Amino acid sequence: MKKRISEAGIIEDRELAEYYSLMAKRYMRIPCQRVLKRVMAKEIEKGIILDVGTGPGIFPIFLSKALPGIQFKGIDLSPVMIELARRNAMEEGLGDKIEFAMGSAYSLPCEDHSIDLLLCINTLHHLDHPIHFFNEAARALKEGGGFVMVDFHRDTSSVLIGVFDLLWKTFFGRHPEARKGFLESVQSSYTIAECRDFLEQSRLKYWKLYTRTIEMWIESTRPSSP
Ligand SMILES: C[S@@+](CC[C@H](N)C(=O)[O-])C[C@H]1O[C@@H](n2cnc3c(N)ncnc32)[C@H](O)[C@@H]1O
Repeated sequence: MKKRISEAGIIEDRELAEYYSLMAKRYMRIPCQRVLKRVMAKEIEKGIILDVGTGPGIFPIFLSKALPGIQFKGIDLSPVMIELARRNAMEEGLGDKIEFAMGSAYSLPCEDHSIDLLLCINTLHHLDHPIHFFNEAARALKEGGGFVMVDFHRDTSSVLIGVFDLLWKTFFGRHPEARKGFLESVQSSYTIAECRDFLEQSRLKYWKLYTRTIEMWIESTRPSSP
């Protein structure tokens, strides 16, 4: 198994962030639908969903349209990303509906047990201290609150990595920095065993961990509170 190469840190370069936002708006529809399906399975019709590492806000914007009774909040360490997320929400007529703010996965800007569902999409590999984040998630979530987290995993076979890297470069490859993005993200991701170990050591309970090709999904297993 290859050693993890950390990709901690945030996109601060405006041009790269704008490019990521544009491509995400163009190509993230299917990933958004897949996350929506898992969120809908939690049967939450009202309350607060917090998206950690929201980037340009594509996931909360998409989900908010399908789940109008839910209040969405998105946080990210990158001020540029938060600016883009706000702009994207405005463009979709959701500027007043979704709150985007700067914030860290290690210190979630919310009261204890105040969140109905927590999302964390393609962000776990940026976190060098996942147990700290899982503990924060446990603190923030209401009793019985749900979570859906998706990321890459380092158990992915080199054949699959090669195929998805080609696809990535086809869609995201025009920017020289973005071009390397898929490989860097996979190298920075955790193995299933590492992630299971972090979860077991954390205060987050009632989770299941499973893979779908290049992805690792972590989901709550209890029905959410009403
Ligand atoms: C690959 S992007 C994913 C964005 C979005 N979730 C998506 O899938 O389109 C990862 C995001 O995590 C943010 N990030 C990195 N470290 C973070 C941290 N410690 N706390 C909050 N956000 C962080 C980055 O700024 C970046 O916007």
